[in-house]
Amino acid sequence: MDDLRKPILPGKGASDYERYLRTDELLALQKGPEEFRHPDEMTFMVVHQASELLLKGVAWELERARVLIADGDFFNSARLLRRGNHMLEYPISMLHELETITPYDYHLIRAGLGHGSGLDSPGFLGLLHIGPRLGEAFQSQLTRLNLIVDELYRRHAEFFGLHDLAERLLDFDERVHLFRFHHLKLAQRIIGSGVVGTMGTPVEVLHQRMEHLFYKELWDVRNRITAQAMQKEQDD
Ligand code: HEM
Repeated sequence: MDDLRKPILPGKGASDYERYLRTDELLALQKGPEEFRHPDEMTFMVVHQASELLLKGVAWELERARVLIADGDFFNSARLLRRGNHMLEYPISMLHELETITPYDYHLIRAGLGHGSGLDSPGFLGLLHIGPRLGEAFQSQLTRLNLIVDELYRRHAEFFGLHDLAERLLDFDERVHLFRFHHLKLAQRIIGSGVVGTMGTPVEVLHQRMEHLFYKELWDVRNRITAQAMQKEQDD
């Protein structure tokens, strides 16, 4: 039994857990306490780094989902989209962690950020890259089946797999929107709504970027469904 405690994987670390996950390297990626401009900097770094990791995981699952859509495997692509969407919940909820930093303390941390800005977040840029490509894969399947979005929603029981996929894409769009909304509120309460960021971008621009949607067509179809239902009510 003793042998089971001994590491057998290659790499650094006292156990296979540490070797497989490379925890030595991972946990050395934060500044040491002596380098912090304020003790809140640990939370600031951990939240950002954890968000980057999770956003990387989301983009990975979404790319897999895109390949499955192209292959016509709607059920498995919807399953991976569900996973990715669920993973995206965490970077959103972690934003609230940073709301506990006071504006005065944040400016001590901010002084050490250089021109560092979330506009260069590899994780978020990954989402902005995959979003439209997922939409194109979905559109190709609609075209192949000779459908338009309105028809897909009307005949949702018949095209259950593709309809479910459309709803999961909507979930993704909604979460990106929610990330931007909660992040905007965070920026407004920490640095204010009428100032510029570390890269010179006015906080107001975050407001404009929040309006962006990947799949406007999937949102708009609901307007037409409601309009038709109301028209029918009037006619009856
Ligand atoms: C104290 C906390 C934070 C503040 C005050 C803040 C502030 C800002 C500001 C002012 C911008 C506009 C660009 C610029 O910097 O000039 C921005 C952009 C951005 N930040 Fe943050 N941020 C915070 C935390 C975070 C966290 C935890 C993330 C997670 C990854 C993040 C991700 C982003 C992203 C993705 C953008 C680009 C947004 C878009 O494309 O719509 N930020 N942030």
